[in-house]
Amino acid sequence: MKYFIEVWGCAMNEHDAETLGGLIEKKGFTKADSYSEAQLIVLHTCCIRAKAEDKVIGRIGALSKIKTKRPEMIIAVGGCMTQQEEVAKYIEKRFKKVDIIYGTHNLNEFDKMLTTVLEDKNQVKNISNADEMIIWENMPIKRNDELKAYVNIIYGCNNFCSYCIVPYVRGREKSREISFIVDEVKVLLSKGFKEITLLGQNVNSYGHDFKDGTNFSLLLKELDKLGDYRLRFMSSHPRDFDFELIDTINDTKNVCHQIHLPLQSGSDRIIKEMNRGYTKKHYLALTEYIYKVMPDATISTDIIVGFPGETESDFQDTLDVVENVGYDQAYMFMYSIREGTRAAKMDNQVPEDIKKERFHRLLKLQNKKSLERNKEMLGKTYELLVEGLGEKARLTGRTRGNKVINFTGDINLKGKLVKVKVTDYNTWSLYGELIGD
Ligand code: 5AD
Ligand code: SF4
Repeated sequence: MKYFIEVWGCAMNEHDAETLGGLIEKKGFTKADSYSEAQLIVLHTCCIRAKAEDKVIGRIGALSKIKTKRPEMIIAVGGCMTQQEEVAKYIEKRFKKVDIIYGTHNLNEFDKMLTTVLEDKNQVKNISNADEMIIWENMPIKRNDELKAYVNIIYGCNNFCSYCIVPYVRGREKSREISFIVDEVKVLLSKGFKEITLLGQNVNSYGHDFKDGTNFSLLLKELDKLGDYRLRFMSSHPRDFDFELIDTINDTKNVCHQIHLPLQSGSDRIIKEMNRGYTKKHYLALTEYIYKVMPDATISTDIIVGFPGETESDFQDTLDVVENVGYDQAYMFMYSIREGTRAAKMDNQVPEDIKKERFHRLLKLQNKKSLERNKEMLGKTYELLVEGLGEKARLTGRTRGNKVINFTGDINLKGKLVKVKVTDYNTWSLYGELIGD
């Protein structure tokens, strides 16, 4: 029997789906390449914006139709979307053909739920309280990649940014014991993984819940001792990201000079309304210091346009930061109302057409900045980790700053570190030639 998992949302979700894959394979299933050849279809969902949820509902409808012709098919829907009680109830009632409904914290029970469905065909639903999360160690993980691996370091979020649903579905922050993290990274490196990305909604609060002085800098220092590899992390919070951490990153040999620092807005008034706890000045001081001590650093960000009450002048502050920092990459979103959050109740919602218009202006500016950042790389040589075939049968690899460069070379170079000189670029891609050996 074969299974197919479709994942929406962030890296955390992608990694959760790898755990689901591990549990499903324990039951004797193998991975399918498409929906059509799978008996078990899992929709691992995201609820960060309304659009993501709409897409999932559409997909459940389409799969339910297919199931009338293929009644043996098993449909599972779970993750952040179904962690919201009313959404789970809606799916349960509206889509009788869905067999399994699981919450964000019920991944560990997925194999048991599958057994129940295989045995008696009844709909099963397991959704625990988001705040009663237990960290399950030593879960089977079916990794999607053989070079790059995700490692969870902290679950949940305590920040309650006023627009964000995450703290409600992922619960309070809970750090993973340092020894488990170190052991997992050791095993991955011994298996030949070359790059580790540490995951958390806010990695900068790692260890705070232990109340024994453990913090993110300490974790990075510990992990830096484990060999020669590339170590990345996401996401950071500008309120908790400090100069000391920047120095730590600079002092390590393995931590890549790639920082994802979500801005959300450049306006002090909006940042405050968002409950983010920093100012434009503090944010710019951080990015300035990052470039000062690590001139080769790349910085990326998340930005929301059209948060309730955002005026043209607030938006200009956001554009100003984008112009000033020169992000290599920005993930830009139009504000989406999430029921249950504080911002959803604000009575000064920005009209859709204004959000769209601002979004396009921001996109245009960011594209200009991405092009400028790529142009700066022209003629320079970078160490690439070769990932495999990319565009137009060229090889593709990433710099330590996580920039993708396409170049011509032998596929046997996959998994190797090579030196590539950048020869061409556009807004979205870089091209180069292999140099030396
Ligand atoms: N509307 C739009 N974007 C949002 N994000 C989080 N909540 C919302 C929302 N309600 C964005 C933030 C966050 C990223 C993962 O998603 O920019 O950093
Ligand atoms: Fe959401 Fe803010 Fe937590 Fe990120 S830090 S998950 S934006 S509440």
